[in-house]
Amino acid sequence: MRLDKFLSKCGFGSRSDTKKIIKTGKVTVNGRVINKTGYIVDELEDVIKYKNDLLNYRKYVYLMLNKPKGVVSATQDNLHKTIIDLLEDYKEYDLHPVGRLDLDTEGLVILTNDGKLTHRVISPKNHISKIYKVKLDKVFNKRKISVFEEGITLNDGYKCLPSEIEIIDEKTVLITIFEGKFHQVKRMFQSIGNKVLYLKRISINGVQLDDKLKLSEYRELTKDELDLLNK
Ligand code: URA
Repeated sequence: MRLDKFLSKCGFGSRSDTKKIIKTGKVTVNGRVINKTGYIVDELEDVIKYKNDLLNYRKYVYLMLNKPKGVVSATQDNLHKTIIDLLEDYKEYDLHPVGRLDLDTEGLVILTNDGKLTHRVISPKNHISKIYKVKLDKVFNKRKISVFEEGITLNDGYKCLPSEIEIIDEKTVLITIFEGKFHQVKRMFQSIGNKVLYLKRISINGVQLDDKLKLSEYRELTKDELDLLNK
């Protein structure tokens, strides 16, 4: 990896920031001052220091983001802002979202560059739980809870896995699902003749959206949260 990229990944700012830092002559690799910004380091083996402080390379980053409406949960999009555009830092980490939310859905998105974790969390066979807060157009018919528990059949004939409903008020429920088909929650309510007006993901496999995060804000996952995701 280039030295300027390495420093960026260690939190020293953008590539142009780290180029400047390298040129000050305060960065050493294996005891030698290096002022060539494109100098190639072995990030796992070399002893890299800034002003004598040892720099530790972090390969993987894990963030939680509170996605607002109107932002696409993808890395690139021609029309809309993406969740990557919301990040002010971590640009060097090539992060991607762990699963998608619709353009008009808010809430918890995990971002990482750990492809193995992404694969585990989104793999349909792992039945990872996701909890959504749903606001509906019409009063939720309580008698339909058992239909959700048994596995609701969508209008195209697909039978969903059993899901769980918790009623918050007449038109607001929490739903826990264990799969992630396209527009799944909206289609589940559509199949009982109700319409989702507002959707927010609040949890993935026990990792709760931090209620201190305002829309568009993000933070790193704690060790406990990462352990939950890896369960
Ligand atoms: N189900 C939906 O319908 N939309 C989402 O964004 C997530 C789950």
